[in-house]
Amino acid sequence: MADLHVPSGTPVPGPSVRPRRLRATPALRRMVAETTFEARQLVLPLFVREGLDEPRPIDSMPGVVQHTRDSAKRAVAEAAELGLGGVMLFGIPERKDASGSGGLDPAGILNVAIADAVAEVGEDLTVMSDLCLDEFTDHGHCGVLDERGRVDNDATLAVYAEMARAQADAGVHMVGPSGMMDGQVAVIRDALDVVGHPDVSILAYSAKYSSAFYGPFREAVDSSLSGDRRTYQQDPANALEGVREALLDVEQGADIVMVKPAMAYLDVVRQVRDAVDVPVAAYNISGEYAMVEAAAAHGWIDREAAILETLTSIRRAGADIILTYWAAEAARLRR
Ligand code: PBG
Repeated sequence: MADLHVPSGTPVPGPSVRPRRLRATPALRRMVAETTFEARQLVLPLFVREGLDEPRPIDSMPGVVQHTRDSAKRAVAEAAELGLGGVMLFGIPERKDASGSGGLDPAGILNVAIADAVAEVGEDLTVMSDLCLDEFTDHGHCGVLDERGRVDNDATLAVYAEMARAQADAGVHMVGPSGMMDGQVAVIRDALDVVGHPDVSILAYSAKYSSAFYGPFREAVDSSLSGDRRTYQQDPANALEGVREALLDVEQGADIVMVKPAMAYLDVVRQVRDAVDVPVAAYNISGEYAMVEAAAAHGWIDREAAILETLTSIRRAGADIILTYWAAEAARLRR
């Protein structure tokens, strides 16, 4: 080992380049920050449950609840006051069936929640809805099953077309197809146009991975799923395929494409951002939320700092928009 001790009095030349200069004060750091996020770029997912008298906490997502229709309206109004980008509504029905018919029923919980939200905020906030069958099917899959129990892509597309129409009739501004069926964006775009809703836009869950980090969401929506979604959601090993899915969705008429989850897929966010010419969203999902909340509850990490760092890194990777359960809180922290 070389002796690294420098005898006192020996002149040492200083570095000629000093990146630390720009880190010296909070004011300097603020001036040179490359990435920020604003309330308008955050979308708050909300769970609305049929037949509830009061909001019900979700154990695995401390601070997040299943809303009643009334409490959901208040949350939507608050989102508008905070200047959030939007809300993404999920419905939890009392009864499920094999074809997910509760999602098509105008009196179904998601459709009434959409109407409630739009009645509350009009065009002051973008009201979005999950367009998928998994909350409404008794088997918990995102589509209908064929006689052998496999998810039937094309039969599902026909149901999605109907669901899009029901959501648009309820007044939704933007639908979020999340079922990963091939061709879903084209079919939904067509269905909306044909029934006179050419102005309803599509946020496509384009690169959606089969992820262990959805665990808490399954509790949040009382999921009936046994097994997994690997025949339709993507293999976490594949990034090129995520870009391909996003390009296909743009071709089919997606107004915004999304990568999901966010944190374990920041490389995919970046690659998709570089490949498309529409806004890119990323979904900071339930498991990402739960990990930070759980560690913070133990005192193992600084909660607020971890939230800000999480959202900043998703923006840095290239996401223009972030769906996050921290949307309201993060917007307040930014004020
Ligand atoms: C499917 C859907 C899921 C999520 C959003 N839409 C779950 C899944 O695919 O299993 C997950 C969101 C989250 O984990 O926060 N309708």
